[in-house]
Amino acid sequence: MARYVGAIDQGTTSSRFIVFDKAGAIVSVGQKEHEQIYPKPGYVEHDPLEIWRNTQEVIQQALARKGLKTQDLAAIGITNQRETTLIWDRRTGKPLHNALVWQDTRVDSIVEEFARDGGHDRLRDKTGLPLASYFSGLKLRWLLDNVPGARDKVEAGDAMFGNIDTWLVWNLTGGVNGGCHITDVTNASRTQLMNLQSLEWDEEILRLFDIPKACLPQIRSSSEVYGEATDGLAGVPIAGILGDQQAALVGQACFQQGEAKNTYGTGCFMLMNTGETPYPSKCGLLTTVGYRFGQGKPVYALEGSIAIAGALVQWLRDNLGLIQNSTEIETLARGVEDNGGVTIVPAFSGLYAPHWNSHARGLIGGLTRFADKGHIARAALEATAFQTREVLEAMTKDTDIAVKELRTDGGMVVNELLMQFQADILNVPVVRPKVIETTALGAAYAAGLATGFWSGTDELVRNWAVDKHWTPAMEASRRERLNAVWDKAIARSLDWAD
Ligand code: G3P
Repeated sequence: MARYVGAIDQGTTSSRFIVFDKAGAIVSVGQKEHEQIYPKPGYVEHDPLEIWRNTQEVIQQALARKGLKTQDLAAIGITNQRETTLIWDRRTGKPLHNALVWQDTRVDSIVEEFARDGGHDRLRDKTGLPLASYFSGLKLRWLLDNVPGARDKVEAGDAMFGNIDTWLVWNLTGGVNGGCHITDVTNASRTQLMNLQSLEWDEEILRLFDIPKACLPQIRSSSEVYGEATDGLAGVPIAGILGDQQAALVGQACFQQGEAKNTYGTGCFMLMNTGETPYPSKCGLLTTVGYRFGQGKPVYALEGSIAIAGALVQWLRDNLGLIQNSTEIETLARGVEDNGGVTIVPAFSGLYAPHWNSHARGLIGGLTRFADKGHIARAALEATAFQTREVLEAMTKDTDIAVKELRTDGGMVVNELLMQFQADILNVPVVRPKVIETTALGAAYAAGLATGFWSGTDELVRNWAVDKHWTPAMEASRRERLNAVWDKAIARSLDWAD
């Protein structure tokens, strides 16, 4: 009898395979980082073949660590960095170009071209998204226009498009020998090519962006048996797909309208469950599909996406050499009393929610001769908390729902200095659950629900348990002062680039 469910978590910086038991506890983990390729400013790429190799490797790693066999797995779920775009040859299985990562801003000028007629929000009604370099549709358009032969191949039916979920499922289910070409509604909702109401590819947008429908995957629910894995996981049903932020919403058991989670990863993403109808945003948030289990009604979410959170800590490590590994940031930041007047706006990919300003660029402000690396470290952590404050404010304005507590997860939540500062700056309690790998857990839940491993969402709600609570403890006047400095810094970073 299979005792566990496995989840592939293919993120921006690494790939993982995590095995969970029925209580939602972690049994085993395999993990490997992949190369970040920066061919020029604004360009960010991944090698899809490296991602596929690493995925296979981490699956074997996790199984071997605990002496598990494929028969121990009742099902596999997949969760992935969203929006990252690739096309590959149907016959050889080879990508036609590196994948364009969600943070890549090369389509900026195409965005502006489309915005000229009708503005940046011209597709919001249909897709829930503003025109921005973030989403897959215009990245796909760039690949079709710039990779020699790509458009011909796509038009002849010889090449297919996918986000990372699609690429992995296709490879896992046999690849060139008949792999399934599918995606789920949550990933499809980030292409800017899917209609949020019909949950189908939108013919009008395909015509506008000049994208041939034949290369697009079939859109399926987030929880159903799509096919069986071959090779290393032969015979195990693949039964769940969720974009990583939606997976975290599920892993945090946010099944009630008004429940929200914030995931602190490479970027930082807050999602609020808004129920069974799409909730439009006036304050710079995204309307997106939260999940759809089998033939059930889709559940929608409002999302505040922040492009750079943990990635700023990595930048201090890799580009400035300020720390040797990411965990040192907390020690360094604790060495000083406060930020010493320093503010960092990490607008490396422009600014996402709530500004959607692709011309914003990063800045370090407030420097005096007094500032040292401790202050820089502190300002780097605070940047994530301030950006989250902007997003929560937008969410409250849009929905009139005051979030009672913010459920947090992702790599950065081990950082207790950040968690306390977050509660202080929001003036809202912050709560960290026992299992912080909620992204992988959500994908496992989707797969386990489809195969009857878990009975329903009530059981998942019972699995959720608190690890630690942070109560706001900052004086209102100080909070207001700090927020005002942040707002000033943001205003300076906007429209920096031409
Ligand atoms: O939309 C991008 C997001 O899915 C990436 O998530 O966890 O890799 O920062 P993460």
